[in-house]
Amino acid sequence: MSATNNNLLPQHVSIIMDGNGRWAKQRGKERTEGHIEGVESVRACTEYAAERGIKYLSLFAFSEENWGRPQEEVEALMSLMVKCISAETPTFTKNNIRFVVLGNLERLSEGLRTEIADCMALTAGNTGLTLILFLSYSGKWDIVQAANRVLASNGGEGEITMEQLEAALCTRAAAIPDPDLLIRTSGEMRISNYMLWQSAYTEYYFTDILWPDFRKNEFKAALDEYAKRERRYGKV
Ligand code: FPP
Repeated sequence: MSATNNNLLPQHVSIIMDGNGRWAKQRGKERTEGHIEGVESVRACTEYAAERGIKYLSLFAFSEENWGRPQEEVEALMSLMVKCISAETPTFTKNNIRFVVLGNLERLSEGLRTEIADCMALTAGNTGLTLILFLSYSGKWDIVQAANRVLASNGGEGEITMEQLEAALCTRAAAIPDPDLLIRTSGEMRISNYMLWQSAYTEYYFTDILWPDFRKNEFKAALDEYAKRERRYGKV
């Protein structure tokens, strides 16, 4: 195997966008202001991913655990999502971006679910970048829903195989490949119940930069670092 990554550009980049609250606090602003500025980073990174020819960009926007935040913040985040999805839909169309949302969507408001469904339907045929938003998602939830799907299709008979379970994960069911590169901003070095199964062989990249400050140059630095990594998948 070569000394460096044999596939220099990751096919799927995923980002745990962290540090919005701290970014706001450092400036004496409300946490929500950090989320609003974070949307600008979402835009910048989406644009750069498309420019670089990355096929899949996924963003951990709201975890199942995030439902436990103060109601006011949850509501602000949810209304930001509705606003953003509706505002960005024409841009997705113009730039050939396919928009996909994955997670335990039953917990979302009807208004947000409608916005998501409309945007997904409108962009389903686009062939450029696929932008995936993980909303109300957790890796453990994904594994359990996959197991339940397999059980239901097996009629409760026999053992669940690894292949069956893998195929029933929400990402695989939506034909999204496992992430090659997972970026986490804000200096936290943990996976926080994100794509637990899918990240078995993912390369991690941690940076101290807070999400609202993570733009094109910071994204480029992560891609440059990825290109130097040697991926062996447990082999020599
Ligand atoms: C983490 O920062 C960020 C979130 C939980 C929300 C991410 C949401 C956005 C960037 C805005 C909405 C995005 C879209 C795509 C519409 P934190 O609040 O945990 O920050 P902290 O760790 O500093 O408190």
